[in-house]
Amino acid sequence: MEELLATADRVMPGGTFGSFALERDVDLVLKKGKGSKVYDSNGREYIDCVNGSGPMLLGHAHPSVVAALREAVEWPSNTYLLNEYGIQLAEKLVDAIPCAEQIKYGVTGSDATLYAMRLARAFTGRDKILKFEGGFLGGNEYALMSMRPGKPLPDFPAPKPDSAGIPRVLEQQVLIAPFNDLSAVEALVKSRSQEIAAIVVEAQQRSIDPRPGFLEGLRALCDANGILLIFDEVVTGFRLAWGGAQERYGVVPDLAAYGKVIGGGLPLSAVAGPKEIMQLADPRRAADPRYCFIGGTTCGNGLAAVAGMASLSVLQEQGVYQRFEDVGKRFRDGAKEIFSRYGLPGQAIGAGPIAQIVLTDNPVVDYRSSMSGNLALQKKLASEIVRRGVLNHGKFYFSLAITDDDMGRILSTLEDSVKAVMT
Ligand SMILES: Cc1ncc(COP(=O)(O)O)c(C=O)c1O
Repeated sequence: MEELLATADRVMPGGTFGSFALERDVDLVLKKGKGSKVYDSNGREYIDCVNGSGPMLLGHAHPSVVAALREAVEWPSNTYLLNEYGIQLAEKLVDAIPCAEQIKYGVTGSDATLYAMRLARAFTGRDKILKFEGGFLGGNEYALMSMRPGKPLPDFPAPKPDSAGIPRVLEQQVLIAPFNDLSAVEALVKSRSQEIAAIVVEAQQRSIDPRPGFLEGLRALCDANGILLIFDEVVTGFRLAWGGAQERYGVVPDLAAYGKVIGGGLPLSAVAGPKEIMQLADPRRAADPRYCFIGGTTCGNGLAAVAGMASLSVLQEQGVYQRFEDVGKRFRDGAKEIFSRYGLPGQAIGAGPIAQIVLTDNPVVDYRSSMSGNLALQKKLASEIVRRGVLNHGKFYFSLAITDDDMGRILSTLEDSVKAVMT
């Protein structure tokens, strides 16, 4: 494995695929996965709570997904033209997603949020996007604003780009508000109502639940001001409920961006919404000045659609979402008990099969409160948990494959790791 890590380091910046890196001393290369477990190139077993950063909601190599992919692998895997599987999945998405009458495919979650924002601008004829500090909407140029603004924090509503290379002019097109603060959003909308195309929100931002009334308030504000409400359901879609955050929190947006779970572990995303808006992306009407370009070579990729269909069929089985609730709750309750027993200020926030460790006892309601804990210790704790055989990146995405026994091991690993960081 050391050789592979050295090769990775030589041929990729930081020896990483994307924007995330484990600490060097626990860095690893994965080779196999089955159910709740993955194995590194040295054959060491881990309980996987990263799950590909979320797509592997069923766990690895689920028999239904593997069987469906085996059968599909000799079909044309990419067609560009229509294929049966992409149509079947589109129908399933439209049935499941409360705001959807139609969908349009992308490949990544970042595509889906970009398309949703583009559609909103095309539909409203306005340019500005309102997003929330600390919210992650993917890697596109509009999304990478104030996701993790370092100090000094800018004053609201000014954005702070999260990456070099983003044209400065785009900073004028994005407004930032504090999550869960409806009166701040109301004041901002009041002063700019005619400029704002959309409010884009992760209904559960990172792992922070919306306050009662917050999403309803955004919905009402959008309705009153001709603004579209967009939910980024890339994480929450099919995870917090079959109908995603829209079902869980009972608020239906105008548009929603989906990714992760819908491709069953293969790259696939979608933007969903009512026909009135989605029709703007009809390429047969490309001469229309409001025509909105959405597409790419691998959109509707057959293999990804097959994996997505197979995954969604398993998620539709009786008891699945109750299981997610139970697993997530056991972890969050167990973590709280461990932190209090060892006198370490900390909690696990989140809902359903999502949890995130935050080392503070302060209520976590927005970005600033989520950063109010001991961040260095938080990072160290995540690494200690990995060192002891439970993969996580501070956040825990639990899969359906997690057994009660696995959860017992995860909690005892957390306890051992807490002891290690406190000595
Ligand atoms: C809420 C949210 N939106 C969008 C994205 C971007 O998705 P992708 O990494 O597939 O581009 C992510 C990725 O983690 C996400 O968590």
